Amino acid sequence: MGRDGVILGLGLESSCDETAAAVAADGRTILSSAVSSQIDLHREYCGVVPEIASRAHLEAVNYLIDAALKQAEAGFGDLDYVSVTNRPGLVGSLLITVQSAKAISYALGIPLIGVSHLEAHLYAPFLEGAEREFPFIGLLVSGGNTALYEVRGTGDMKVIGRTTDDAVGEAFDKAAKFLDLGYPGGPAIERLAERAEKREALFPKILPGPGDFRFSYSGIKTALINYVRKNPGTPLPDIAWSFQERALELLVRRTLAASRERGIKRIVVAGGVAANGRLREMFGQSRREDETVLLPSAGLCTDNAAMVAGLGYRYYVSGKSDGLGLDVMAKEFA
Ligand code: KG4
Repeated sequence: MGRDGVILGLGLESSCDETAAAVAADGRTILSSAVSSQIDLHREYCGVVPEIASRAHLEAVNYLIDAALKQAEAGFGDLDYVSVTNRPGLVGSLLITVQSAKAISYALGIPLIGVSHLEAHLYAPFLEGAEREFPFIGLLVSGGNTALYEVRGTGDMKVIGRTTDDAVGEAFDKAAKFLDLGYPGGPAIERLAERAEKREALFPKILPGPGDFRFSYSGIKTALINYVRKNPGTPLPDIAWSFQERALELLVRRTLAASRERGIKRIVVAGGVAANGRLREMFGQSRREDETVLLPSAGLCTDNAAMVAGLGYRYYVSGKSDGLGLDVMAKEFA
């Protein structure tokens, strides 16, 4: 199969509130990437409603697979493997594309490869020309996850720190909800912060202790709420700026500290919050010259299936095939 000596893979993703399908060539080039976001369906609840999410995935999945193949000018017969996110995520949502992937794998007789959504996010920069060299420090920042990893190879990721309470994206979403800025909160807070006139700290700093790579976000959110209640006249952009600064500096400090302590100079930052322009600026300002910080372009930071197709290629060439017994898991590790 494949085309012109190139290995083609279909990637599928439905772990949360985006349904996505994509075709990648040799795990490096995105031939197509189709994403259907459910944000409008969940907006009135200010968060993802699992039952609504599963139903919307079911409605979108076949259409997206067709769109991805068409955009890639490929047919089912050109595919060498199908990879799909099978963990972590909302179980009812994951099931939709896992079942589709099983049907495609069975009908075409091609390997079915289940991948971790988190590992897939950290693959995104390698679809944009960066060389995939190990080891690297991975910082994953999204609405459901905030974690630091030491990544030594495909499937070889060790957690070195994670949030003890809220994820950073969740904190942005909750802060935005409190400030009445709508959902998702991250982009709304970033836009507002750009208009801040007084760029000074309104909330206390959270300083990492040496060797401690944990994150915590519920304190920053509470500090924001208390500040706004006590100082009702403060302009919203100044509050947004201060919140964003505090939330992001913790990520940058922890990540660079982990990288320096372990002597690993390559860093990959991925997930929805990695789209934040101020986070990119902070890493640019704080990294040393011999440290490399790879951030995917904004479209590859949020959920997509190109990263799933790309990572799937690495497993495909290593001979992995999961078979039709592939299960879904709410958590990364059982
Ligand atoms: O990775 P993602 O698309 O979905 C999952 O969480 O699975 O991440 C979404 C999260 C939301 O919490 C959203 O508020 C946050 O990423 N986000 C941002 C920005 N864009 C999205 N946070 C801060 N700044 C942004 N520009």
